[in-house]
Amino acid sequence: MAKIGELYQSGNWKEEKHVPVIDAPDSVKADEMFDVTVSIGKEVAHPNKPGHHIAWIQLFFHPEGEKFAYQVGDYKFMAHGATAGESDKGPVYTNHSVVAQVKINKPGTLLATSWCNIHGLWEFEKSVGLK
Ligand SMILES: [Fe+2]
Repeated sequence: MAKIGELYQSGNWKEEKHVPVIDAPDSVKADEMFDVTVSIGKEVAHPNKPGHHIAWIQLFFHPEGEKFAYQVGDYKFMAHGATAGESDKGPVYTNHSVVAQVKINKPGTLLATSWCNIHGLWEFEKSVGLK
């Protein structure tokens, strides 16, 4: 029986279209808001169709030296071009990318997870220091 942590996949985001890449500064000022962008398909586009899409991204922060991580955001993508008529030609799509505004008072690691309805769970992490 698999443990949930064993089901997360990762890879080189420049070649693997499922990796939830985190773009954030390498270091920030304590208690000052900064942007964290999480995007999938940054280099190689991922499909966005009813039958194959990214359903959600979650973002966490793990402060350095602490036991637990904190959830920062939970982002669901509901529009993938579905239509009552011919599929894949609907009028609305949501892109699988988010920008969160975040502030921290300790250095740590941002962790992103995501789920493709065909290819499962994916993860990525990026450390952020304090100036
Ligand atoms: Fe996929």
